[in-house]
Amino acid sequence: MIYLKTDEEVELMRASNILLGKTYAEVAKSIRPGVSTAELDKIAYEFIMDHGGRPACLGYEGYPATLCTSVNEQVVHGIPSKDQILRDGDIISVDSSIELNGWHSDSAYTFPVGEVAPEIMQLLRTTKEALYLGIEQAVTGRRLGDISATIQQHCERAGYGVVREFVGHGIGREMHEDPEVCNYGRRGNGIVLKSGMTIAIEPMITLGRRQILIEDDGWTARTVDRKPAAHYEHSVCIRNGKADILSTFDYIKEVLGDRFI
Ligand code: MF3
Ligand code: CO
Repeated sequence: MIYLKTDEEVELMRASNILLGKTYAEVAKSIRPGVSTAELDKIAYEFIMDHGGRPACLGYEGYPATLCTSVNEQVVHGIPSKDQILRDGDIISVDSSIELNGWHSDSAYTFPVGEVAPEIMQLLRTTKEALYLGIEQAVTGRRLGDISATIQQHCERAGYGVVREFVGHGIGREMHEDPEVCNYGRRGNGIVLKSGMTIAIEPMITLGRRQILIEDDGWTARTVDRKPAAHYEHSVCIRNGKADILSTFDYIKEVLGDRFI
């Protein structure tokens, strides 16, 4: 069941997403060699609670943290840990969701830690480009498969792997609603996009092969070949003419300055 949102509801979702963007900016201030992913999680938890939000991942199907922090070969759903210390040259994908006044946000961002190899920086850039190219397709009159195929084509042309096991999704009162938004597919396939649909688009792209496995913790997805993966995500409302991006990387950009890609 796909729930179309009213303009008022979309604005409540935007507010939730702005809080998430500000949370990521707080986290970004502390991303550097030597910090643990548990410290980043604590920063996010406190910031969200201080601003009247509920960390929506915490307790979701038993998930034990506010953030998903996925480092290097970890693709998604990495669990923050005091034993996981960031090092120069790492990348870390930060993914989370907030419920604010009954409405969910969802966004993800992959940060370089210190000086990252050019080959990996290119993976980050291409994944982010794929997200925005996919978003351009999120307008009335297009189909879901147009988003999916656009993302897949951009990443596979660059020689990267497109993860199949995790997908984007509708979002609203629930963190995960219909429809599923795959990062692979065929142009012209799938449902017709309608004004008021709200979806999270989230390419998860690998430098090497696309195969993943789930670690023994039951959550952490990592690449089988242990090569790095990137993940960028926005929540988007479908409109006539132009996709309305509800989440924002603007606050992250303020913190990263000329390190923002
Ligand atoms: N953005 C993530 C997703 O859509 C949020 C995961 S929260 C978790 O899957 F609790 F499932 F980890
Ligand atoms: Co999501």
